[in-house]
Amino acid sequence: MSQMTESMAAAAPERTPAGPGTVAETAAEQHRQAREVYHRISANIARVMQGQAAATRKLLAALASGGHVLLEDYPGTGKTTLAKALARSIAARFKRIQFTPDLLPSDILGVSVFSQRDQLFHFHEGPVFTNILLADEINRASPRTQSALLEAMGEGQVSVDGQQRELADLFFVIATENPVEFRGTYPLPEAQMDRFAMQFSLGYVQSADEVAILTAQEHNHPLTHLQPVASLTEVVALKRAAGDIRMSEELKRYTVELVSATRTAPGVQLGASPRASLALMKAAQALALFDGLEFVTPDQIQELAVAVIAHRLVMEPQARFSGLTARAVVEEALRKVKVPV
Ligand SMILES: Nc1ncnc2c1ncn2[C@@H]1O[C@H](COP(=O)(O)OP(=O)(O)OP(=O)(O)O)[C@@H](O)[C@H]1O
Ligand SMILES: [Mg+2]
Repeated sequence: MSQMTESMAAAAPERTPAGPGTVAETAAEQHRQAREVYHRISANIARVMQGQAAATRKLLAALASGGHVLLEDYPGTGKTTLAKALARSIAARFKRIQFTPDLLPSDILGVSVFSQRDQLFHFHEGPVFTNILLADEINRASPRTQSALLEAMGEGQVSVDGQQRELADLFFVIATENPVEFRGTYPLPEAQMDRFAMQFSLGYVQSADEVAILTAQEHNHPLTHLQPVASLTEVVALKRAAGDIRMSEELKRYTVELVSATRTAPGVQLGASPRASLALMKAAQALALFDGLEFVTPDQIQELAVAVIAHRLVMEPQARFSGLTARAVVEEALRKVKVPV
């Protein structure tokens, strides 16, 4: 893998355009290259995932904006496959943790082991020291183990035996959970849901796409011959380019109004925090980059609002019984809050 990273990075085109380009031209060229990386990864994932273009776009927006994703859906809807397809598309370190009730925090973070030979403790890195981490079926582990991962996600570092250790610059967690299983599962604590920039489901695809799934796997699984199409360096540049995209004061206010509307909405016990507003801005910047824009428009904010905000809301018990969902609260905010022109 690391060899691949180097060779792909070496093959990457020159970042600065020829001639005496202005700063703006150079930035525009970097954005064009970043967009091209996005399209390459997205097309590669589409070789495996049928009918999931919108979900792939959100997943890549989270990746490009430095957020983590929680995929929640019924068994067999392609969650693990999507995560693996993304991981295979990037020449970076990838680890998968299958969460089980007996998993310990040290199985995620790592342990210090005493060596008889040199009479010293040596740290053995856990799977969290990687670039892309698939935390599969996260709600099957105990809350203590879940929070070890969630803290690492929030801090970008872990502390083991009183020592801080930095995680990689590109550290992207895709966690999956299954909503139908309640027995033997531990729902993520609400406060921890806030650590995920986005949560969304994949849903069942249309029949034609499902037929395409069968055709694609008639002889073997398309994942088996999926090759990396982007280097780690290119993905880091993609993140940097997303952060360059501008957002006007009006749209910042619009973002904050959408998020704060959830705090006073009927049926909501706990609304979304400024962390949600930030995540919405950053993910919208990434989508604008993907769309070839130099600045965010209301479209990107609206496309992402439910995925970024809904999972952070704690609904009142009565609201839950009457069928009012967090998604409906966000959709209502989208209808109510005036869109800047
Ligand atoms: N949209 C899709 N495109 C391509 N393959 C799909 C799609 N949906 C499901 N599949 C295929 O269905 C099978 C099951 O998918 P996968 O294991 O990713 O599901 P999952 O959501 O992780 O399920 P579980 O919750 O049980 O772990 C895989 O072979 C996968 O390739
Ligand atoms: Mg799975």
